[in-house]
Amino acid sequence: MQLKFPEGFLFGTATSAHQVEGENRWNDWWYYEEIGRLPHKSGRACNSWEMYGRDVDLMAGLGYGAYRFSIEWSRIFPEEGKPNEGALMHYQRMIDLLNERGITPMLTLHHFTLPMWFAAKGGFERKENLEYWGRYVELIAETLEGVKLVATFNEPMVYVVASYVDGTWPPFTKNPLKAEKVAANLIRAHAMAYEALHGRFRVGIVKNRPYFVPASESERDRKAAEEVDHTFNRAIIDGILTGRFKGFLRSFDVPVSGLDWLGMNYYNIMRVRAVRNPFRRFVVEDADVGRKTDMGWSVYPRGIYEGLRAFSEYALPIYVTENGIATLDDEWRVEFIVRHLQYVHRALEEGVDVRGYFYWSLLDNYEWAEGFRPRFGLIEVNYDTFERRPRRSAYVYGGIARERTIREGLVEGYGLKL
Ligand code: FCB
Repeated sequence: MQLKFPEGFLFGTATSAHQVEGENRWNDWWYYEEIGRLPHKSGRACNSWEMYGRDVDLMAGLGYGAYRFSIEWSRIFPEEGKPNEGALMHYQRMIDLLNERGITPMLTLHHFTLPMWFAAKGGFERKENLEYWGRYVELIAETLEGVKLVATFNEPMVYVVASYVDGTWPPFTKNPLKAEKVAANLIRAHAMAYEALHGRFRVGIVKNRPYFVPASESERDRKAAEEVDHTFNRAIIDGILTGRFKGFLRSFDVPVSGLDWLGMNYYNIMRVRAVRNPFRRFVVEDADVGRKTDMGWSVYPRGIYEGLRAFSEYALPIYVTENGIATLDDEWRVEFIVRHLQYVHRALEEGVDVRGYFYWSLLDNYEWAEGFRPRFGLIEVNYDTFERRPRRSAYVYGGIARERTIREGLVEGYGLKL
């Protein structure tokens, strides 16, 4: 049976500035890459700062109807207090070009990187620093046109955990007390952005939502999985909507603001095991349910459905803002897309208000601490010549996008029996 998606449902792809633009010299990642504190240099990345026209042509030719990308704050404010108009115009041109080609733009204001001068002041660790974020957001609100969908933060909890709990990302801090303070400040920053942007834009936030399962049937593992699900998947959204953020150790009062939509990034299934250890209550690891991707992640398509069901409790429009696989086996990519979309379709049939799906990623790109090895792209990038070559999956996904349908042959050949 073929699967039809509703009219207006967006089929797009996603990227982020630092991962594709290249030469992002003014942010904290670049700094730590240069001094060797991060294992891989982003360098010219995909050279998309220069080649964005080509990228948009490819999207249009392939039939993709939406594009989620991020604005690099450090390009807009390479130095404190001095906006770079050229950079703003660059993003405006991108938006215009997308619209001309019938591709709906979705912007992300923060996708992990910080202007170096802002990081040097302590970044989001200090409440006093939020005024700088406010200026950036106001400038965006005053200038950019032709775009409706804006996400304030990409995966705020991933940022907090990687940067302040695990300490694997800048600023390499391992301090849960600081981590939850940063999380509370991100909620405050969201509130500022919501106030500045809401009305002219439809403002959302993008949450990474792994599917957490208990490692065993024991009561302790079950409780631990629930706690992780609450803290990682829900606490920030609840904080935004209720004014009370329940962190890792303490609770914080934050301004009540709003969300016009919710973004969900879904990649994987993880299991949670309770442990007795003075420093931690649980361990979270890959659930190990079969073949692993080049990120070492298990694939579990049903998790996207579980996530959409869970998020539907907020009664907001939902976009799947990222979903993708790192592999050189492009047939597996086709299977991955078909199976996840089958479950998105099922959620829609059950009345969940899903408005779109963005595959991560349009292009192979710089995968943070993993560098260029993982290949997430529908389009292969040659990092020496920057030549782009659509993989077969790019055309298959284009067919789905253009027809808003997964044809019977695809469901039969690659799908699951739901
Ligand atoms: C998400 C990030 C994105 C990309 C994918 C693989 O967590 O938002 O930048 O790295 O994972």
